[in-house]
Amino acid sequence: MKRIRKAVFPVAGLGTRFLPATKAVPKEMLTVVDRPVIQHVVDEAIAAGIEHFVFVTGRNKGVIEEHFDKHFELEATLRSRGKTVELRQLEQQTPAAGATSFTRQQEPLGLGHAVWCARDIVGDEPFALLLPDMLHHGKVGCMAEMIKAYEAKGGNHIGVYPVRDDETHQYGIVDVAGSADKVAKIKAMVEKPARGTAPSNLAISGRYILQPKIFELLATQERGAGGEIQLTDSMLKLAEAEPFYAVRFDGKVYDTGSKIGFLAANVAYGLADEKLAPEFRAVIKDILG
Ligand code: G1P
Repeated sequence: MKRIRKAVFPVAGLGTRFLPATKAVPKEMLTVVDRPVIQHVVDEAIAAGIEHFVFVTGRNKGVIEEHFDKHFELEATLRSRGKTVELRQLEQQTPAAGATSFTRQQEPLGLGHAVWCARDIVGDEPFALLLPDMLHHGKVGCMAEMIKAYEAKGGNHIGVYPVRDDETHQYGIVDVAGSADKVAKIKAMVEKPARGTAPSNLAISGRYILQPKIFELLATQERGAGGEIQLTDSMLKLAEAEPFYAVRFDGKVYDTGSKIGFLAANVAYGLADEKLAPEFRAVIKDILG
């Protein structure tokens, strides 16, 4: 069985829901507590043992590349001022030289197209895919759990979590055999089902482990829901030939692509920060009156 070494991060989205914040700053660089959203997701991949980080970027996303570079002058300044905690944190969170790749999506043709843009960099091996909008907050990282499931079963894996019935139309939805199991075989998958037609309330959480055959299927580039090249359509085809498992994430998932999800993530991550929590809790209480 091939190890999961590479992770793909599609970061080409325009972020129109966060204008004017995202006019000059990519939405992935908006901060949740003390680090950009994309850093939280890369941290999750690092914790899962990922060794190479592939970013599918677009116009005006250059600052993401800067963010994951070594900042020599900053590190020298921190060292000379004896700021060892900050220095160590920077060092731990910066991927090693040669461990990042950046490619451009060029046109906003959908998630399937963004993933396909990473085909040459990923090559002929299974890979992790993490959608940066979705923050997974739990004791164990979602991707670490999924890699464990992959090592036990092989095949393809999708992270899922339960959503409310009135939210299913916003997500990819899967139906599984043995719905209470942590890891369950997927029976059906549908991208953004019309209201009232979802086969279950298990939403695709934006975490995937996919076999490289997905690139051949994406290469046909057929348009699906919303006129976009959908990843879910190619996964459905792949599922005819290879097993797909759903890995249920037991922590909380925050969709930071929406304002409410973004605010909720800041509250949750702030309250989970030991140093900030006591004062932050008092401030929230005060605001709520
Ligand atoms: C994408 C996927 C969808 C998934 C969602 C999670 O949709 O196509 O299956 O549930 O991410 O955020 P998007 O949010 O890009 O419309």
